Amino acid sequence: MTLSEKIGQLNLLAAGEGLATGAAGPTRLAERLDRGELGAVFGTKSLASARAMQERALAGSRLSIPLFFAEDVIHGHRTVFPLPIALACSWDMALIEATASHAACEAAAEGLHQVYAPMIDVARDPRWGRIAESPGEDPLLAARYAVATVRGLQGAGIAEPGQVAACLKHFVAYGATLSGRDYDNASLAWEDLIEIHLAPFVAGLDVGAASVMASFNAVNRLPMHANAPLIDGWLRGKQGFDGLVVSDYTGVQELSAHGIGAPHTVVARALHAGIDMDMVGEDYLRELPRLAVEGLDAQDCDMRFTPAEIEGLIDRACSRVLDFKARLGLLDDPYRGLDGAISAPPRAEGRALARRAAAAACVLLKNDRLLPLKAPCDVALVGPFAEDRANMLGTWSVAGDARDVVTLREALEIREGVRLQCARGCNVVDEAWLTDRLNVHGKTVETDPRDPGDMIAEAVAAARTAGLAIVAVGEAREHGGESSSRLAPDLPAPQRRLIDALSETGVPLVIVVFASRPLALGAVADAASALLYAWHGGIAGPEGVADILFGDAAPSGRLAASLPAHPGEVPLHHSEDPTGRPFRGRFEKFRTGWLDLSDDAAAARYPFGFGLTYSRLRYDAPVLSSTRARGDDGKIELRVTVTNEGDVDALETVQLYLSDPVARVTRPARRLIDFQQIAVASRQAATARFTVTLAQLRYPLAPSLEDAQMVWDPGSFVLHVGPNSRDTTAAEIVWER
Ligand code: NOJ
Repeated sequence: MTLSEKIGQLNLLAAGEGLATGAAGPTRLAERLDRGELGAVFGTKSLASARAMQERALAGSRLSIPLFFAEDVIHGHRTVFPLPIALACSWDMALIEATASHAACEAAAEGLHQVYAPMIDVARDPRWGRIAESPGEDPLLAARYAVATVRGLQGAGIAEPGQVAACLKHFVAYGATLSGRDYDNASLAWEDLIEIHLAPFVAGLDVGAASVMASFNAVNRLPMHANAPLIDGWLRGKQGFDGLVVSDYTGVQELSAHGIGAPHTVVARALHAGIDMDMVGEDYLRELPRLAVEGLDAQDCDMRFTPAEIEGLIDRACSRVLDFKARLGLLDDPYRGLDGAISAPPRAEGRALARRAAAAACVLLKNDRLLPLKAPCDVALVGPFAEDRANMLGTWSVAGDARDVVTLREALEIREGVRLQCARGCNVVDEAWLTDRLNVHGKTVETDPRDPGDMIAEAVAAARTAGLAIVAVGEAREHGGESSSRLAPDLPAPQRRLIDALSETGVPLVIVVFASRPLALGAVADAASALLYAWHGGIAGPEGVADILFGDAAPSGRLAASLPAHPGEVPLHHSEDPTGRPFRGRFEKFRTGWLDLSDDAAAARYPFGFGLTYSRLRYDAPVLSSTRARGDDGKIELRVTVTNEGDVDALETVQLYLSDPVARVTRPARRLIDFQQIAVASRQAATARFTVTLAQLRYPLAPSLEDAQMVWDPGSFVLHVGPNSRDTTAAEIVWER
């Protein structure tokens, strides 16, 4: 291959307007294709357009090297499933794998070969809009989510019909961004990087994820697109990853804004770090020809490369791109996936799966014996999301169609014996400027021009007449996702006012929250007789909610991220480190952790792993095979029996946490080490069994990334087992050398 042919392979463009824009003639993309200056395209939107691009690419390439096609398939493709954070709340890995597999098949049927998923950034700050796309706050849950998703997407192999290549993103610690501000940097202990943020990547790589995307942020001062120690050192070197690494959108050129070099310098730095393909910015295309001739001597950032070194790096990146194409089967058949031979799975099958997933993702936070509802009944359905379609899809649903959504009103109306009266009650937000921001990618937030007082009065009257109200509140789709951080992650003010007014009626309220992040619910939780956290549940989100409300599905979801008691109480997670103060019983003022948070208000904090069922589940004391173990091959079995004392069958997620009360360094007060879902039929018992091994006691010590090692300290450990991260029973064990 010539130098320019090799550089062309490293260029990755968005499909944008496709090949031609009407009378305006050829696009930049068409030009690149004709000159053989393109390795792959994302966002094609149809099989026909991908095929047309492939034909043109083959004609433009002297060696007939095909393109591959990629897309953001984050929580479903045409069939939009619940948001990733919502799917994680199901804790049901078989279900998550099934959604990924369905999405893969829909994507493959449209000629896509790679999807930019799973997003496995551990996220602990609800201000960050991209928490919606993440599997939540816990590294173990995120790791299992990574495994399930990669398996669903890639199946038996990325060249198999109906499968696609997964792309683990964003590498790495994008979720640790400062103050939850999108694109900001992360400064953290190497130990935390390894134990919290790299752990899900290890899991995804172990099951063969074929590609990785770099993240926009810097980690400990070095931006990830130039982070040779993490990409070339850790990912390639230590983990042995031999797949493809792509940049994020214009991530290479943004290195200059990070302050680490001029445009040509950052190209050399990114290539050297191990970024094989340059997404959208075309900086590789622009700068590499000259760098390959002149080399680089950038004294301002202490970077030097000879021309031969640059050529070597180009060869390295190009062979990874070609390898990836070979693994996809494209070098044998450039039209693989583009010949219409793969059929999308039946839409009805997708809908049924989406509905099951939507119900499984709902977390029941409170139920004063009100749910499940029984028809016949009169219900006032109020709130700005009662008749919503577009927001239900949630962020990053690029191929979704809001017309596929059945609204909550429609889902309730078709139930026999349910007599509904509807009233909007309020708008999603009141501020015109904020509404404009939320509508920046299309109008999903409507504003009802009526007087706010009149709207509330109408909802209150409907609630009084019906004697029961279902209140559909939450966030707009654009409240979450990329570039959508919120200063105060709570329910927008007009919706809180609506709930205040409704609660004064004394009518029982079933509050359903459709959101993209964990919100501080505050007084909203007090006002509710029943509280269901439904997230943005995809095309069948509201149907899943209706199934739960009327008992056709039993609630089983558990929070994948803690809900703060107050919007100021972030970041927040269950796995905090112990500190020296406050001592128990002293420093009385700080009992809730915050001087100005009352004990009552603190009760609105819902811990990680929490979620109610429609039954009463009693945990027996855990039984250990032994309280002592020794050395590397030691093992302790823990058994816990759960009895369902209620009338409804339940799916229980039994969670196992560990603490290491004395170690070389401070260890988290508890951390999740395993979980298991067991079906517990009404009036029956079921037993969860766990095996604890030494691997679960190990933790990283890392004076630097390169010197990291996994260690453990003999002595006492405490196992905590229970239905969530707070309400557990302890069992002490001793592990000797
Ligand atoms: C930017 C986002 O950060 C990334 O997640 C996404 O895959 C790319 N854009 C492509 O759309």
